[in-house]
Amino acid sequence: MKLDLTEALSQEQLEAQKQRVLDAFETLVGRNGAGNDFLGWIDLPENYDREEYDRILKAAARIRETAEALVVVGIGGSYLGARAVIEALSPSYDRQTPEILFAGNQLSAQEMAELLDYLKGKTFAINVISKSGTTTEPAIAFRLLKSLLEENVGAEKARELIFATTDRQKGALKTLADDAGYETFVVPDDIGGRFTVLTAVGLLPIAVAGIDCDALMAGAQTMRQTTLQADFDQNPALSYAAARLAMMENDKKTEIFVAYEPKLHYFQEWWKQLAGESEGKEGKGLYPTSVGNTTDLHSLGQWIQEGPSIHFETVLWFDEAVRDVAVPEDADNLDGLNYLAGKPLHFVNEQAMRGTRQAHVEGGVPNILLTAKRLDAETLGELIYFFEVTIGVTGYALGINPFNQPGVEFYKKNMFHLLGKPGF
Ligand code: PA5
Repeated sequence: MKLDLTEALSQEQLEAQKQRVLDAFETLVGRNGAGNDFLGWIDLPENYDREEYDRILKAAARIRETAEALVVVGIGGSYLGARAVIEALSPSYDRQTPEILFAGNQLSAQEMAELLDYLKGKTFAINVISKSGTTTEPAIAFRLLKSLLEENVGAEKARELIFATTDRQKGALKTLADDAGYETFVVPDDIGGRFTVLTAVGLLPIAVAGIDCDALMAGAQTMRQTTLQADFDQNPALSYAAARLAMMENDKKTEIFVAYEPKLHYFQEWWKQLAGESEGKEGKGLYPTSVGNTTDLHSLGQWIQEGPSIHFETVLWFDEAVRDVAVPEDADNLDGLNYLAGKPLHFVNEQAMRGTRQAHVEGGVPNILLTAKRLDAETLGELIYFFEVTIGVTGYALGINPFNQPGVEFYKKNMFHLLGKPGF
């Protein structure tokens, strides 16, 4: 993976952040900052429960054999990582069964009614994921889906098709799962939701989708070795954190994560949660947003090029396409495209990326370019770990606790009051 900061800031601007970043890194790896009881993700790629990992792969194989669909029930960190990896690495069309569906990540009545209609009569599995076990959105979805599944296949068979991923020993979902006899997997105590993609939270749905979990973990292991070095020049997470801090000092308010691959849409959503929920505190933090190009060059591209100068871009590019097609020759050439005949589409996409980058830089938009080899499980494991370290370091450099999310409680209190929940 290569990080190119040359179109974003000067060497002097980067150097100016160096000590601040190294101090923050020391706090992170020394585990002596705020939220240091949520740092289990740092060693996770090496230090995970092998027995549970095997159980995850076995459960996934059973689901693949017996179910037409898997419904992943969770919200925030309890679904975005799995969805990010599954969407990035699965074919866009004509997917193999079981189909992977996501529920409990909003409260739309219409969505739920349509999902229940779609699943009526089907043999589907449910993976309900909630660390607290009390989150309203997944709890309601799980009640409805469980009841439909029992109607479809009977209570006994439903029990074998429901998997709960939750706290090791406490919480409403743990009690419910133990009482009902569901197989359970663990959300580790020391890992917050948005850092759990490489735990059972992400791995069970990812394995059901037929994705190589070993390769995902191997990628994270490689990046762990790279990004746990306290050497500023050898550790790309430190340079990236420094660049982001320099942007904030330069009055940039928003970071736009740019991808040229539609399969990365949910990876961008995962990154937005990781950055936004970790950094947006005490009046600090970049607003993380994203675009999918070239689609968004025909909508938001105008704002990015000529709107108020409050943003910078981080572009993720893959050197190789996993699959490619060539532009065909046409005898009539009425569309004037024969100058591209025989050229791979990935080459055309690359020139769009390079041309856009140049235009935005000339328009005053700083541009960070992150280049990876190809979109596969190993690379995705690397990227996940890379972004996790960057966000931890940036958060500590900002002087906030990157591992809590106190602001999330405010809407819940009001909603519970309006709903008449006892005690609110
Ligand atoms: O990152 C986080 O901690 C949150 O997004 C949680 O994952 C989310 O609120 C869901 O919480 P729970 O897993 O307790 O249902």
